[in-house]
Amino acid sequence: MKRLLSGIQPSGTITLGNYIGAIKNFVKLQNENEDVEFFVFIADQHAITVPQEKLKLRENIRSLAAIYVACGLDPKKVHLFIQSEVPAHAMLGYVMECTAYIGEMERMTQYKDKKVKQVDGVHCSLLTYPALMAADILLYDTDLVPVGEDQKQHLELTRNLAQRFNQKYGDTFVVPEAYIAKEGAKVMSLQDPTKKMSKSDPNPKGYIALLDEENVIRKKIMSAVTDSVGTISYDPANRPGISNLLTIYDVFSGEGIDNICKKYDGKGYAEFKADLADIVVNALKPIQERYNELIKSEELDTILDEGRDYASKIAFKKISKVYNKIGLGRKR
Ligand code: TYM
Repeated sequence: MKRLLSGIQPSGTITLGNYIGAIKNFVKLQNENEDVEFFVFIADQHAITVPQEKLKLRENIRSLAAIYVACGLDPKKVHLFIQSEVPAHAMLGYVMECTAYIGEMERMTQYKDKKVKQVDGVHCSLLTYPALMAADILLYDTDLVPVGEDQKQHLELTRNLAQRFNQKYGDTFVVPEAYIAKEGAKVMSLQDPTKKMSKSDPNPKGYIALLDEENVIRKKIMSAVTDSVGTISYDPANRPGISNLLTIYDVFSGEGIDNICKKYDGKGYAEFKADLADIVVNALKPIQERYNELIKSEELDTILDEGRDYASKIAFKKISKVYNKIGLGRKR
């Protein structure tokens, strides 16, 4: 039986980028595969690599849990849990820090990008964060990790760390593969289509949040940056703005980019954007309705308790095995 695992940081409002690049694929993989075990978690320990406000963090954690379920993750098929509630993640994270080299951590693009944004100093954990991410994955003997394009480098590092550990201590970890969907692996900002859509963007016009209200979604799409060419065609290198919108259109409508371009031949951006806004609003409506039911419910706590208990058993066995291999503590 194959194991799948992925996580999202509750570090802000969940965006259309997270949905298209990650959650939508989780749901697809859950529905397509019978004989798999799937873990999806809330990466709250990753979120505190940069400053977080306590109450906001709590709210974001619960909100992400509700979003997972509202988007279609079925707790009968997927084990949903909160990372910090399974202590073995931090335990193996430390072992991975002892496996990784500073040089390889410093090469991580996300570290370089995030480091420059820290006004009050850079926490050590921002640098070592990929070691914790490797631990998240390796704890569960994960075969496949569905993620967006921006996590590819962290996955490569995870593979290297697994192989390095296995070489030194004998076969311990499964070397995982990344699953990156061809379409929508990198949804771009609506305001600067050369940058990825990000939940930490200080300008909310750059992203669509899954929980944005209808009129907000419409406004953001209508004011999305395109170019002065004026035609609807797909050319990500030279026309990133319209190409990004076409990708979003295609992801939700399934019409195929070529067909969409033909449909809008001779038509302008305003008409295309208005239709895209309708499509996105209609896709998010049922998710938002389900979210509003779930966020207040006890059902969510039951799901997270069960997920935590199941994940803890597997994770604890693995960390015990790792400690034994290294020679930490007394033999168990
Ligand atoms: P995070 O929280 O930044 O993003 C969560 C997921 O969303 C994808 N994503 C995007 N996909 C397409 N277009 C975008 N604009 C976009 N923005 C984000 C990300 O690629 C990711 O799949 N380190 C991870 C969380 C994590 C994790 C793990 C993931 C921690 N441990 C173990 C997998 C396995 C992160 O910060 O993702």
